[in-house]
Amino acid sequence: MKKKHFNRIAAAALASAMLMSSANAVFAADDSAATGKVIFSFDFEDGDVSAFCNRGENDTTELSAADEGGIDGKYLLASGRSKEWNGPAFRLDDKLEPYTEYYISAKVKGKYYTNVTLSNQFDNADGVTKYNNLLQNISQQNYPTEDGWVTIPPTKISFTDEMKNVYVYFEGGTDDLFIDDFTITEVPSVEIEQDIPGLKDVFVNDFKVGTALTPAALSSKPTMDIVEKHFSGSITAGNEMKPDAVLDKAACQAYFEETGDDTVPQITFGAAKPLLNYCQKNNIPVRIHTLVWHSQTPDWFFKVGYADDGEWVDKETMLARMENYIKAYFEELIKLYPDIDFYACDVVNEAWNDQGAPRNPGEQGDHGSNNSAWVQVFGDNSFIEPAFTFARKYAPEGCKLYYNDFNEYMDGKLNAIVEMATDLKAKGVIDGIGMQSHLDARQSLDSSFPSVNMYNKALDKYAELGLDIQITELDATTPENPTDADFKVQADYYKGIWDSIYAHKDSISAVIVWGVTDDGSWRAKKYPLLFDADYKAKPAFHSIIEGHDVPISTNPPKTTESPVTTTTTGDTLYGDANCDGKVEIADATLILQFLTNKDEYSLTTQGMKNADVSGNGDGVTAQDALTIQQVDAGIYKASDLPINK
Ligand code: XIL
Repeated sequence: MKKKHFNRIAAAALASAMLMSSANAVFAADDSAATGKVIFSFDFEDGDVSAFCNRGENDTTELSAADEGGIDGKYLLASGRSKEWNGPAFRLDDKLEPYTEYYISAKVKGKYYTNVTLSNQFDNADGVTKYNNLLQNISQQNYPTEDGWVTIPPTKISFTDEMKNVYVYFEGGTDDLFIDDFTITEVPSVEIEQDIPGLKDVFVNDFKVGTALTPAALSSKPTMDIVEKHFSGSITAGNEMKPDAVLDKAACQAYFEETGDDTVPQITFGAAKPLLNYCQKNNIPVRIHTLVWHSQTPDWFFKVGYADDGEWVDKETMLARMENYIKAYFEELIKLYPDIDFYACDVVNEAWNDQGAPRNPGEQGDHGSNNSAWVQVFGDNSFIEPAFTFARKYAPEGCKLYYNDFNEYMDGKLNAIVEMATDLKAKGVIDGIGMQSHLDARQSLDSSFPSVNMYNKALDKYAELGLDIQITELDATTPENPTDADFKVQADYYKGIWDSIYAHKDSISAVIVWGVTDDGSWRAKKYPLLFDADYKAKPAFHSIIEGHDVPISTNPPKTTESPVTTTTTGDTLYGDANCDGKVEIADATLILQFLTNKDEYSLTTQGMKNADVSGNGDGVTAQDALTIQQVDAGIYKASDLPINK
């Protein structure tokens, strides 16, 4: 806590020191008013370019302040650029806060044909330097331009505390680059809705409710506030625990060269560490996704010498690689995160096609493609059983093992999964079925696919197996450019699906929604999630909790303590919204139900009076429910009610 506070002050002090020491370097904050508080701003009028640098040893860029043709005079000139990746660069992690979103904006000028990219570079937790492009194709053709100066729109950047030497830089071509009005502003903070119940709390007695996260989300406060409130029952890494993120090609090849043994794949959890650290810190159970998959798995993993252009290895070699990979995977996880509850693992993902046959042999395809390098090496789906056997051998105790798939409700695939699972169950190596549940709400409930009925039937079949079920990647798209009517259909469809899940709750241990807000979804164009880009709960969210108790506390409701009673004012017992003579969680629940759906839930006149406990006299609000929760949590005494604030 202390340290964080210090960092914040240090960053602020540094920021203001820099601003003060070069008063000319500040240009009107109004320019960025729309994008929040200005942290740094350089117009280079004082000739000071010392905050910028080139990109190290082999970068020939020279930086200076030049003054002919600048926007208001001087600007930063990056000359002598011999390679297109050459700078200018600006370091962030020694000046700004981790886990905070910033906008970078600037004006840039080159030749009329110059095409610039705004990029980001950092060293990850393993000390490996990574690069990504923040904004490409910055040119006179693509962005507003005046006198050759191209305006770069505010572009988001954030970093975690494990990332070191974090820079933004401009690259592209080898011509001189001019930079002016380089500005960093903080993304304005947004409060998430407090007057809705936490989804995970509504179903706390039924199943875990969780989501998938990518490291970028960690820096978005509102996103993480939603995760904490609604989805902290379980986290799945969106991509970072898949084979292509975990397998370390250079280390695999080095190990092979050193030992002559090409059956011991080398791994790293460098990409997943920020997410896993978050889960560890917040005590959130983790679903492991995924060990054996045709997609997001490099072809070199299946090739002699781990070489891209090598021959396919034989089955025996691949079996040994598979065992050693799974062994290393679990051993490393347990070593790094002994305290995380890795409660579930997708051992094999998407091995059957919709007709219930193995995929085609071949180099990896995308998700949904029919090629599988596993089938290439094994000739069929006989790699599935050893995968489960090895997982059983090396997974930590309490980590349940799942077969996971999409289109899991299609007859052919469903039958193949059931047959496979029956066999694996008899052998004691599988614990459950992961139903990905990537669904499509369409123009009407009837045309949505799969129908609720079809989905429900699949649930019945999997439940009959006597294995656990987890809904592992739930999302349900709208048509593109959705109207309000489309969102209503989506809400109805979600409700149908969720009700069907709820009806099978005795067989279901977790429901994971595949992402937090629509804009962060892998199917973002079709708005498939429960929260919108403004962090607001969508109709689909409200529809799935309809008819369920809605506690707003993150603490499970207390059942053992006797309810609080207090003195009354006339007939008024403050806090007793349901007029049963007690002040307890049920009162808070009723208030929230009443506020979200007045047609279904009512308060009596006396109930309305009793409920008005916070800011007494302002009517019944969500704040009243919160205050009653706070009484239940011991923050206030019932006799303190009403609280006038
Ligand atoms: C998706 C991720 O969400 C995307 O970011 C990535 O580009 C592709 O993979 N089935 C799965 C998940 O098992 O791993 C996929 O996740 C979605 C489909």
